[in-house]
Amino acid sequence: MSNQTDRIIIFDTTLRDGEQSPGASLTVDEKLTIARSLARLGVDIIEAGFPYASPGDFEAVQKIAQTVGTEDGPTICGLARATQADIKAAGEAIKPAAKGRIHTFLATSDIHLEYKLKKTRQEVLAIVPEMVAYARTFVDDVEFSPEDAGRSDPEFLYQVLEKAIAAGATTVNIPDTVGYTTPGEYGALIAGIKNNVPNIDQAIISVHGHNDLGLAVANFLEAVKNGARQLECTINGIGERAGNAALEELVMALHVRRQYFNPFFGRAPESTEPLTQINTQEIYRTSRLVSQLTGMIVQPNKAIVGQNAFAHESGIHQDGVLKHKLTYEIMDAESIGLTHNQIVLGKLSGRNAFRTRLKELGFELSETEINNAFLRFKEVADKKKEITDWDLSAIINDEMQQAPELFRLELVQVSCGDHSCPTATVTLRTPNGEELTDASIGTGPVDAVYKAINRVVNVPNELIEFSVKSVTAGIDAMGEVTIRLRYEDRIYSGYAANTDIITASARAYISALNRLYGAIQEKSEAQVNQSEMTAV
Ligand code: KIV
Ligand code: ZN
Repeated sequence: MSNQTDRIIIFDTTLRDGEQSPGASLTVDEKLTIARSLARLGVDIIEAGFPYASPGDFEAVQKIAQTVGTEDGPTICGLARATQADIKAAGEAIKPAAKGRIHTFLATSDIHLEYKLKKTRQEVLAIVPEMVAYARTFVDDVEFSPEDAGRSDPEFLYQVLEKAIAAGATTVNIPDTVGYTTPGEYGALIAGIKNNVPNIDQAIISVHGHNDLGLAVANFLEAVKNGARQLECTINGIGERAGNAALEELVMALHVRRQYFNPFFGRAPESTEPLTQINTQEIYRTSRLVSQLTGMIVQPNKAIVGQNAFAHESGIHQDGVLKHKLTYEIMDAESIGLTHNQIVLGKLSGRNAFRTRLKELGFELSETEINNAFLRFKEVADKKKEITDWDLSAIINDEMQQAPELFRLELVQVSCGDHSCPTATVTLRTPNGEELTDASIGTGPVDAVYKAINRVVNVPNELIEFSVKSVTAGIDAMGEVTIRLRYEDRIYSGYAANTDIITASARAYISALNRLYGAIQEKSEAQVNQSEMTAV
C-alpha cells in the first residue's frame, strides 16, 4: 500500500470518539442505526467502538461488523490500546466484517510517557512493533496512532512510526489529541513525517484532531496539502471536550473548494472528480440522526448543518440571492440533502407505504418496532396532515430513544395558564410493572411535570439542558425536545418528538431517566471492568 492514494479516505469515529462526548452514550441498536446511516453516507471506514472497554462496546462493534461490514460496505474498525487483551478483543469483535481493521495506539509525548504511562522512550519503541505485529495476526489492515503526536518530539515520532510500519501498520495516524497545534505546525508535522520516515511510502498517513482551539478542520486541510490521505472525523464534530474535526465541514470544504485542492492530488484544478466518496446529499439526514440519538444539539450557526447555515436574514443578502444565488451562496442546500419539507405521507397512507419509506430512509426495524412506530405515525397524522421525512425520522428516533424502557409514561396531564398555578399529574409504569400516579405544582407546566415524574422515579438528578425546537415549519409542527441531566459525574440525554410539547418534554425526561436508571443498575458490573481499564 502507498500513501499516494488519489483521493481522501473518510474514517468516521462518531461511534467511538464521538460517543465519548459527555452524555452522548448510545445503545447497541442506536449505534447500529447510525452505522447504517454512515454506510449510506459513503464513509470508507467506521470506527465502531472500543471492544475491550465494556461488553456493550464489544457487542456493538460485533453487530456492526456483522450487519454493516458487508463486502461492498465500509471497513469496520475496533480501537485497542497497545496491549494483547485489547487487541484480541478488537480482533474478535471485527471478525464478522468482510473488511476489518484494528486501530491500536500508544502515547509518544514526554508528558504522557512520564505521567500517564510511566514508560521510557525505549520501552515505547519496543512495545509498538510487538503490538502492531500482534494485531497483524488477526487482520491485514492495522492502523497505529502515537497518541498526543501533536506534542511529541518529531524525531522520536519518526522512529516510532518507522517501527510501526516495519511491523505491519498499513495506516499511521497522527493525533492532535489535545487540540493544541495550529494549521501551519500540523502541516509541517505531516511534511516532516513524509520526509523523515524512511518507509512512509508503505503506509497511508491519517490525521485525527480535537477542536479545543477551533482549529481541527483547518489543521486537517493543511495536512491534506502535505500528504495526509485519511481524515478521522465525526458527524457534527461531536467528541471529547470541544469535539473532533467535523466530517461535514471537511467533506464540503474539499467539495466546494476542489479546484484549490485538486493540484495537491496531482489533478488538474478544473477536474470535477470528487475528492471523497461521500454522498453529500446524505449529510443533513445523518447529522439530524446523530443529533437526535446522542442528544447533542447542533448549534444554529454551525457550518453546513446548523439551522441558519443556509438562511439569509439581512435584506441586502436576500435581495442579492433573489437576483443571483451565487451572490451570497457558495453551495446549495440541496447538495447536503436539505430539501424543503418534502411531503411524503399522510393520514391515509397505509402500513406498506410507511414501511417502504422507512426503508428508503435507512431505518431497519423489527416487525414490533414497525407496528409501534406505525401507531405513533397514525396519531401524528391525525393531528398534522402532512408528514415529511423529517417528521418520520423524529417519530422513529423518539421511539428508539424510549428503549430500554424501564419506566414508561402512561399519562401526563397539566393545568396551567396566566391565572393558575401550573399543576401536573403523571402516571408511570415502573420497571417491575407497577402503575404509579403522582402530582406536583411547578413554576411552569414542564417544571410541574418533571417534579411529578421525580416523585415517582425518585432518583436525584440535576437538569442541565432543556431545548424545544420545531421539526418543520408551521403551526401544527411537531416539537422535538432534547434534555441533558446530570447524576453524580455523568450526563444522560433524552430526546422525544410529539405534536404536544408537554408530552414530548415528559417523554424526553423519561428517556434520559431510563438511561440513568439503566446505568445505576449496570454500575457494579462497570466497576469490575473499570479496575481492569487502568492506563497501559
Ligand atoms: O485523540 C486521540 O488521540 C485518540 C486516539 C485514540 C487516536 O482518540
Ligand atoms: Zn481522539
